[in-house]
Amino acid sequence: MIKTVSTTPYADQKPGTSGLRKKVPEFQQPNYAENFIQSIFDSLEGYQGKTLVIGGDGRYYNREVIQKAIKMAAANGFGKVMVGKGGILSTPAASNIIRKYKAFGGIILSASHNPGGPTEDFGIKYNIGNGGPAPEKITDAIYERSKVIDSYKISDFPDINLDRIAREDVGGMIVSVIDPVEDYAALMEELFDFGAIRNLISLGFRLNFDAMSAVTGPYAKEIFEIRLGAPDGSVRNFLPLPDFGGHHPDPNLVHCKELYDEMMSDDAPDFGAASDGDGDRNLIIGKGIYVTPSDSLAILAANANLAPGYSHGIAGIARSMPTSGAADRVAEKRGVGIYETPTGWKFFGNLLDAGMATICGEESSGTGSNHVREKDGLWAVLLWLNILAVRGESVIDIVTQHWATYGRNYYSRHDYEGVDTNAANGLITALREKLPTLPGTKYGDLTVAAADDFAYHDPVDKSVSQHQGIRIMFEGGSRVVFRLSGTGTTGATLRVYIERYEPDSTRHNIETQEALADLIAAAQAVADIKGHTGRDAPTVIT
Ligand code: G6P
Ligand code: ZN
Repeated sequence: MIKTVSTTPYADQKPGTSGLRKKVPEFQQPNYAENFIQSIFDSLEGYQGKTLVIGGDGRYYNREVIQKAIKMAAANGFGKVMVGKGGILSTPAASNIIRKYKAFGGIILSASHNPGGPTEDFGIKYNIGNGGPAPEKITDAIYERSKVIDSYKISDFPDINLDRIAREDVGGMIVSVIDPVEDYAALMEELFDFGAIRNLISLGFRLNFDAMSAVTGPYAKEIFEIRLGAPDGSVRNFLPLPDFGGHHPDPNLVHCKELYDEMMSDDAPDFGAASDGDGDRNLIIGKGIYVTPSDSLAILAANANLAPGYSHGIAGIARSMPTSGAADRVAEKRGVGIYETPTGWKFFGNLLDAGMATICGEESSGTGSNHVREKDGLWAVLLWLNILAVRGESVIDIVTQHWATYGRNYYSRHDYEGVDTNAANGLITALREKLPTLPGTKYGDLTVAAADDFAYHDPVDKSVSQHQGIRIMFEGGSRVVFRLSGTGTTGATLRVYIERYEPDSTRHNIETQEALADLIAAAQAVADIKGHTGRDAPTVIT
């Protein structure tokens, strides 16, 4: 039986960088999730009888919303729902399922790297038929719809048993509970030389993967320990927990400090890695060296041809604007395309679909390729392992040789979290107003060469995205970028991205913050961070 339930709109359902993210109690308000899901369906056309993929990162409230979404999909006329067993699908695995089974689209329930639990974060995101996040045209339509919605449709069949693999007909719609790992693991076996990696591991290469009590646990266990033969215990925190064990499932140097310390110790394993809540981010640490996401992108792009899936070379590289220019140097030397997009994986979709870019990456720990339309944490780890297996060198040797060949882009991000929203907006507005006066201005030995408010002109669909971050470029190729985070749920987070290019290999061993000290001072001077935010120092430095 299909029920039409009347509802009243919520004014705050505007999707951010990656879907709608709010605290769980906000999602638990009457009809809050239902309104948003119906707004998604109302913004789509032509899905009658088609397949919808549903899955999430296993966080608190995941199962409840999955049941609602299945019943609403049935009431709205979808022909089939494919849902991961236990309600689990990593974000890249969901993207793969949408593509492989030619689904109409998918609903991914995740707040990515944000904490989970009864008072923590939850999120709903819609992905289109190419497997990627919905473009702004659709997210804008969803928001507009959410502001006027007055009813939603839901079927009243009993809850689906999500804990066994099965296929059932629930009053006209098929619900298929699928193995969340199988198709993804098969795709990884196609792209990478599992034989070579297995051989490397059998020769004593030690790897340490932290699943952070989040969604990659079952995937990593299957791939690293079962298929690649890494000893039991190589994958830690592998059981997905609704509250991620009380941790923040963000694979950075703050939240993976234990792994980092271990990798810097004398008896460190050869390779350490981690992924986030929903499995799309990655952290790569070699014995004695942390690889920044920007360097990782450049190194993966430069060596991708060593993996079977990319043996014919790559068409181009795309990176988000705040990501360092390390990848640009690789593209230039290889004669392949390079594209600079706004922050947010959705901007890579058109370039990938058009075959213009093969490998994409962001400073926010995302790397991926045209194999799916999301960034992919385990993919990045496997490409690293494939490269290490073929080259037979250590991570530190590969990174230092890369710098020697291409030069080093010293890079750091300073985050000011939980800043008052008005203060943060005030800082950006003041900077924007100042832009025309900046060229020629000196900060110590640094001279501003150019300054702008980044706008992206999509070369494929010709859409324009304005106000994507303030860039201050200095003579000699150094740069400072200011941007407000689009993924937080409380207050504002100011991100300051700092970068210096150093071609001279005798100067590649300076401590990063020291190498960037004059730029850090210039960032403070140009934006008056302290004056606007009252903060003396960033909360997180990566
Ligand atoms: C999500 C998106 C990424 C993006 C990141 C930026 O993780 O999937 O594509 O780079 O958010 O986050 P921010 O907090 O800087 O807006
Ligand atoms: Zn994520």
